Amino acid sequence: MLDKIRVKDVGGYVGREITLKGWLYNKRSSGKLHFLQLRDGSGIIQCVVFKGDVTAEVFELADKITQESSIEVTGTVREDKRSPLGFELGVKDIKVLQMAKDYPISPKEHGTAFLMDNRHLWLRSSRQVAILKIRDEIIFAIREYFKNNGFTLVDSPILTPAACEGTSTLFETDYFGQKALLSQSGQLYGEASAMALGKIYCFGPTFRAEKSKTRRHLTEFWMVEPEVAFNDLDDNMDLAEDFICYIVEKVLKNRRAELEVLGRDISKLENIKKPFPRISYTEAIEILNKNGNPTEWGGDIGGDEETIISKTFDRPVMIHRYPAAIKAFYMKRDPKDEKLALAVDVIGPEGYGEIIGGSQREEDYDTLIKRIHEQGLDESAFDWYLDLRKYGSVPHSGFGMGIERAVAWICGLPHVRETIPFPRLMDRIKP
Ligand code: 4AD
Ligand code: MG
Repeated sequence: MLDKIRVKDVGGYVGREITLKGWLYNKRSSGKLHFLQLRDGSGIIQCVVFKGDVTAEVFELADKITQESSIEVTGTVREDKRSPLGFELGVKDIKVLQMAKDYPISPKEHGTAFLMDNRHLWLRSSRQVAILKIRDEIIFAIREYFKNNGFTLVDSPILTPAACEGTSTLFETDYFGQKALLSQSGQLYGEASAMALGKIYCFGPTFRAEKSKTRRHLTEFWMVEPEVAFNDLDDNMDLAEDFICYIVEKVLKNRRAELEVLGRDISKLENIKKPFPRISYTEAIEILNKNGNPTEWGGDIGGDEETIISKTFDRPVMIHRYPAAIKAFYMKRDPKDEKLALAVDVIGPEGYGEIIGGSQREEDYDTLIKRIHEQGLDESAFDWYLDLRKYGSVPHSGFGMGIERAVAWICGLPHVRETIPFPRLMDRIKP
């Protein structure tokens, strides 16, 4: 029903009798009073049960209701300046829809493994609700940003015949007797779509069979990938920067209360303004060496190194022009130095590491075929992709942002496992 009243809207009903439906979050009692915290997903309201206001049965029921029982509470909305919501309910009647028995998650501290086993219930806690609302806000801002800027959403497939990001992290599945791979990235399809529509993005789940147990890795994660015809690497960096600023601004505007629930240092997010520093890979290596982290030119910049670099700046850093040897086959080489790929990674601040990876793409047919062979990939799997270089090829660029990495950073969380409702990790596929 559209007309059910939710906790967040009770301010419009001061002095009136209403009925709220939800769950018992917490309870406190003292003599003639029971204080029930009712949560309904939109907020939490204190419902005050005064012995003199209700029947003996209702007062006794209030005493018996257990944590997470589903309830319907009727009463009068009153202003209450001391509560975070600003309102409370003076209770007249209570109905229990289902009395919960021994809810396993109590307000006391629990270990992470226990909470992860009970993820389906853990989602009900204030902290998890705040994270899910911020995730929703981020995703909404992403779609809004692209809509406002002339992009078309084009979904890419999940069951695919070929690898996009290297062959070492593929999940294989049987496709009617043929081998199929779960998509690591929608990019190659995004490139085809960009040649049809000019500016596109795809947004969906992606899969990496990565044997990494770090705070940044999931085996299933959501990636948003814009792809733009006629954009070069600089345009790509401009886009990434503008995009991130828009998202952070929206979260600050609409989800301040949730950031506060998480204890996020909001001033750090308020600092996220253009321009972001842009440094080359070579400069990044110099920073590492200067800070006492001997690093040789040519190797990948791993999580620990990213953390060190990101801590030297107060906003996201864009590292561009990586050694081509450590990057994907589709990246265009720098015409000024063929050892370099026109790649960019955006490194989140406060030690969050890579949140965006992207590049300008190789648009020349012969060069691309050469790269496919150099990386030992099967040319026949990419025939359709090569067609894009035969029929009106143009310079183009794009990037991918992992939603969970972005949520972890914006929320200030230590691990990506809390950024997605039901995380898939190397050692976890349940619940
Ligand atoms: O850098 P990656 O591998 O880039 C691509 O897949 C490109 N095809 C994207 C493109 O240009 N269209 O991944 C992009 C982003 C990373 O920066 C990171 O945020 C996220 O995806 N990511 C992961 N997030 C969680 N768990 C993992 N295992 C991730 N691997 C990548
Ligand atoms: Mg990357």
